[in-house]
This record gives sequence, C-alpha cells and structure tokens, in this order.
Amino acid sequence: MSRSSTLLALLSFSMLSPLPVLAAEAANPTYARSLAATCFTCHGTDGRSVDGVPPSLAGQNRDYLLQQMREFRNGKRPATIMHQHALGYTDEQLALIAGYFAGVAPGPAARAPAAR
Ligand code: HEC
Repeated sequence: MSRSSTLLALLSFSMLSPLPVLAAEAANPTYARSLAATCFTCHGTDGRSVDGVPPSLAGQNRDYLLQQMREFRNGKRPATIMHQHALGYTDEQLALIAGYFAGVAPGPAARAPAAR
C-alpha cells in the first residue's frame, strides 16, 4: 500500500470511529432511559420499587448510585444478583443510568388498578 493510501485508510477509519455516535447517544435522554429500563423489572418503573424491595433508585444521589454499581461490578459490595447485572455496562453507561435515576422524583410504585 502506498503511503497516501495508508493515510487515506487511517483517515476514513477515524471518520468511522464510534466516538461521535456515543457522544450523540449520551446527549440523548431517550438513550439514558432505555438503559435504565433494564432495571425497572426489579427496581420498579422509573426506579420506584414496590415496598422498597429491592431498594428504590428514584431520586437517589447520583454519585451514590454510580459508586454502588462500580462496587457491585468489582466485587467490593457483596450481592445476590447485582454483581452479575453490573458487569454488562461501561462506566459511561453507568453514569447515564445513575443520572437518570437521580433525576426521577421519588414516589410510590405504580400499582396495577384493583380488579373490580
Ligand atoms: C433481577 C433483578 C434486578 C435487576 C434487573 C436490577 N437489580 Fe439492582 N438490585 C437487585 C437486588 C436483589 C438488590 C439488592 C442487592 C443484591 O442482593 O444483589 C439490588 C440493589 C441495587 C442497588 C443498591 C441500592 C442501595 O440502596 O444501596 C443499586 C444501586 C442497584 N441495585 C442498581 C440497579 C441498576 C442501576 C440496575 C439496572 C442497570 C439494576 N439495579 C437492575 C435486583 C435487581
């Protein structure tokens, strides 16, 4: 490969790098919510859990949430399930998730309407 075509290959590779895409995702609130939605099954819709089990995430301190997730991931905080769950996310994704839950107002879990 000639020097100019090597340069061209490098240039086009850098233009294809995923970094700008990640930056765009990070700025997109829908992306943060879709990441956080993987937690709703156990922690309740928008992180408002039913009777606080497992703990509600809605309205918790962002730095606290981020630190817990990191400690689950590196095994510093013992867990039954969270150490497995925390493995699936990058630091950037955990920061987005923590930011999302910190921004949700705490409140009671939405319950299914009572049957008539
Ligand atoms: C399969 C159920 C399940 C899912 C899904 C789940 N969690 Fe958890 N979470 C738990 C349980 C159970 C605990 C209590 C610790 C343990 O035993 O693992 C917990 C504890 C936590 C805690 C500690 C809360 C506190 O007050 O110290 C945080 C933070 C947390 N989860 C965040 C998350 C986030 C963020 C997600 C989504 C990325 C998530 N969890 C998804 C079940 C789940």
